[in-house]
Amino acid sequence: MQPVVVTHPLAQCHLTAIRAAETPPHQFRRHLNLLAQMLFLEATRELPVQEVAVRTPVQETTGSALARPVVFVPILRAGLGILDGIMTLVPEAIVAHVGIRRDEETALPQAYYANLPDSLASADVFLLDPMLATGGSACEAIRQLKEAGALTITMLCVVSCPEGLAALEAAHPDVPVVTAAVDAGLNEKCYIVPGLGDAGDRYFGT
Ligand code: PRP
Ligand code: URA
Repeated sequence: MQPVVVTHPLAQCHLTAIRAAETPPHQFRRHLNLLAQMLFLEATRELPVQEVAVRTPVQETTGSALARPVVFVPILRAGLGILDGIMTLVPEAIVAHVGIRRDEETALPQAYYANLPDSLASADVFLLDPMLATGGSACEAIRQLKEAGALTITMLCVVSCPEGLAALEAAHPDVPVVTAAVDAGLNEKCYIVPGLGDAGDRYFGT
């Protein structure tokens, strides 16, 4: 499955701002939140809604309501950087957490925390992480989500690369990816190039 790449000019301007090494954390957060909203709008184009009755001050008509619960799953830490912006679009969403960090030597994912609700099977689940590098963290998170019952998962990531997309396609071909960029690849430390550096450090200022 090909990733959906959000090429909207405003999305690409926000992406450029968060790529820039001189962008301080408070601006990084602002641009990331806005970009996350644009990715989420694209990711939810086909979100199921049901028809509901609504009474305007003038007369009865029909409108839409979400058909199923929405669950956001940020991969700690950096996934939290996507959460704030999209929570404003679906304030009633449930937030589940998966904690995964990469081993700095091997770049392999190390899972250290999970808090997943029982209701995953009936929900539209959105996995959040700004970076899809080797794909190890995303594959592990999706494995956990499926084990917990999730059936409909979409991954939102800001910057991806061919290596991470290939790993995800091999392990979880049923999970679509919505991203703002497919970068050239990985460097010797498994960082995305050109990328934006360490997303968690840049978001949290560590
Ligand atoms: C970063 C990023 C992803 C992961 C991507 O997290 O937020 O979770 O690396 O790399 P991968 O595709 O090769 O697995 P990191 O391990 O730096 O943890 P942090 O969010 O706590 O900084
Ligand atoms: N994690 C990051 O934060 N950035 C990368 O480029 C790769 C993994």
